Amino acid sequence: MSNTFDEIQKRENALLCNTYGRYPLAVSKAKDCTLFDLDGEEYLDFLAGIAVCSLGHSREDIADVMAEQARKMVHVSNLFYQEPQLELAEKLLSTCAAGKVFFCNSGAEANEGAIKLARRYMRKVRNEDRHEIITLERSFHGRTLSTLTATGQEGPIKDGFSPLPEGFITVPFGKINALRGAVNSKTAAIMVEMVQGEGGVRPLPTDYVNDIVAICKENGILLIVDEVQTGLCRTGRFWAHQHYGITPDIFTSAKALANGLPMGAVMCSDEVAKGFEPGSHATTFGGGAVVSAVASKVIDIMLEEKMAERALKMGAFAKAEAEKLMAKHPDKIAGTRGLGLLFGIELSFNGADVWKALLDNKIVCNLTQGKILRLVPPLTITEEDIRTFMSVLDSILESTAPEAA
Ligand SMILES: Cc1ncc(COP(=O)(O)O)c(C=O)c1O
Repeated sequence: MSNTFDEIQKRENALLCNTYGRYPLAVSKAKDCTLFDLDGEEYLDFLAGIAVCSLGHSREDIADVMAEQARKMVHVSNLFYQEPQLELAEKLLSTCAAGKVFFCNSGAEANEGAIKLARRYMRKVRNEDRHEIITLERSFHGRTLSTLTATGQEGPIKDGFSPLPEGFITVPFGKINALRGAVNSKTAAIMVEMVQGEGGVRPLPTDYVNDIVAICKENGILLIVDEVQTGLCRTGRFWAHQHYGITPDIFTSAKALANGLPMGAVMCSDEVAKGFEPGSHATTFGGGAVVSAVASKVIDIMLEEKMAERALKMGAFAKAEAEKLMAKHPDKIAGTRGLGLLFGIELSFNGADVWKALLDNKIVCNLTQGKILRLVPPLTITEEDIRTFMSVLDSILESTAPEAA
């Protein structure tokens, strides 16, 4: 047991692969919208485990479901029929227009499954050798070899991992002609996030989405929507694609699905689901009884407590408050963006010092693309919490020298 932050850091350096640029904070406990450090100091959480603990941390009602299921059955494998998985499937499919679901363990694995499904559907059902997947610049789809290749970003995510799998094309964001030009007789699918999260909280414009859907229809190719970050009420609808009134052929979920337990899902139409058959795709852990029972409870709570409406309302409140700050600091805040509680405040300068000052003032959020403070709090966050965030940010910007900006 380590008693101080320095001890923890030293132990970690000796023990773990060095893959994370961690925040200088060791969390010992998390409850609702609060994180506690080793000394019991409280931090207001605008990160929610990166858009995962959408219902807040360490909820009693979810802990009860987890414990009850853990005493009954934890894991028996996907060789058996299991009721909790079916209950979850019914609930999940009732929130969208998809007809079938495949359960897995993470966002990357869900996207990997979606890519495999699109390719196999084209080959085995449509009898066409379409395998290319087109994605957008600055997208983020995960860190398996296929999903990092699909990801429209360069840098450490790709560096050193070649040869990367074939069959992925990335096109510039928002340029419909570039996308149209990339489609060819080998294209299987276009894969997009409705709001690019890691890419800087960028919602796709409505016209752009409508054009993408039209291109898919005209060319007989599939639309895959990556809802790993945007799904489960985060953006103010149960699924972000519902803002656009579209029905993807395949969409993926993970992050908030089991409020912190690892779970992913691939949803698809009944037609596209024909692409999989026994032996073609599987996972040992996916859809296990405990995560399934927890995810069922998550969906119940989200629907009963109208979390989508809450995300919309709180997102609008955060936007209004941030715009007040922008009027006060027009040289320091360049804009706001996002949907619901996937919300970004774009600074006019590199935001590392502002982000660190927020942390020093006991507020946790994320900085993405160097300048954008990304706010993805639990959906249970209150107006008072948002006011606290903005007032701390206000005083930090107040004392930020104009030359830093
Ligand atoms: C849009 C999107 N897709 C995929 C992933 C990968 O999910 P995971 O880290 O669970 O593999 C992420 C993670 O941040 C994401 O934001």
